[in-house]
Amino acid sequence: MTERHNRGLLGLSGLSRSEITRILDTAQMFSRILDRPVPSVPTLRGWSVVNLFFEPSTRTRISFELAEKRMGADIINFSASISSVNKGETLLDTARNILAMKVDAIVMRHRASGAPHFLAKHVNVPIVNAGDGAHEHPTQALLDMLTIRQKLGKLEGLKIAIVGDIRHSRVARSDIWGMTTMGAEVTLCGPPTLMPKFGEHLPARITYSLDEALADADVVYALRIQRERQDGGLFPSIREYVQNYGITQERLDVAKPDSLIMHPGPINRGWELSHDVADDPDRSVILDQVTNGIAVRMAVLFLAAGREPESINSGARA
Ligand code: CP
Repeated sequence: MTERHNRGLLGLSGLSRSEITRILDTAQMFSRILDRPVPSVPTLRGWSVVNLFFEPSTRTRISFELAEKRMGADIINFSASISSVNKGETLLDTARNILAMKVDAIVMRHRASGAPHFLAKHVNVPIVNAGDGAHEHPTQALLDMLTIRQKLGKLEGLKIAIVGDIRHSRVARSDIWGMTTMGAEVTLCGPPTLMPKFGEHLPARITYSLDEALADADVVYALRIQRERQDGGLFPSIREYVQNYGITQERLDVAKPDSLIMHPGPINRGWELSHDVADDPDRSVILDQVTNGIAVRMAVLFLAAGREPESINSGARA
C-alpha cells in the first residue's frame, strides 16, 4: 500500500524511486529560490494549513511554518498543550472541527504511531506526517537525502551507517525506506537492546560493532538516544553507550576520509557525537540538514496542493 493518500505524505514506505526523486527535484528548485535575495514564491496563496503538533518540536515545526510562509499560505498553529484536547476532545473531533473552518491541509506530529494514517482515513484533505511515534518521519528522511545528494551528488551505491537507538527511531525507519529505495546500502548499528524487534525484515544490514558499521562508510548518521520513549534499562549506562557507540574522531578513522556526519537533532552532545565531530567544519552537515528542511517541506506541501513543479518559478520574485 502506498503511503501517499489524498496527495499528502504519511511515510516513505511504499513510495517508488521516481516519487522520491520528484520530491527531491522539487525541493532542489525551492532550495535555489531560498538562496535568492527575496526567498519567497507565493504559489500557495489562499491555501490554508494547520500545523497540528501533539508532541514537542523545534526544527520540524519552525521549518514547516517557514515553508508555508515562504509560499504565501495561511497558517494556523495548534499546540495540544493549550487546546481543548486537555478537556478530553478526541483527535478526530479536533481535526473535524478545524476542517469545519475550511482548512486545506494538515501537518501533524503525534506520539502515537499511525495517528496521521488514522486521520487520513477520516478526512479528505492532504495530511503530511511530521513524525508519528516510533513509526515514520518522512520529511526528515527527505531532507537527509537532499543533503546527501547535494554534498555527494547521488544516493545510489553509497554506504550509509545509521548508529544508535534504531528501535525507537522514526527517523531511522523513514531513512531506511527512502535511502534503500534510492539505491544506497544501509547498515544499522547499536546495542542489541536498541535494535528493532523485527530488524531482519528491514532492507538493511545489522551489526553490533561500530568499527564494522563505520568501515568505508560514505555517510555516518548518528541518532538521538530517546530516553522519553524507553522504559529504562535498555543499556547499562550512558558511559558504556558512549564507550561502545559514541562517535569520535578516532572511531571515524575507518570511515571514508570525506564521509559526511549527520544527525536529525536534537543532539545529546558528548553521547551520540563528540563535540568536535558534531562541529567538524569539513564533515558535519547537521546544520545543512536543518536548512534543507525548509525546501523539502515547501516541496511536500506544494505537491500536496496538486501544483506542478514546472509552475514554481511563475510566482517567484527573483
Ligand atoms: N529532527 C526533528 O524532528 O527535530 P524536532 O523534534 O526538533 O522537530
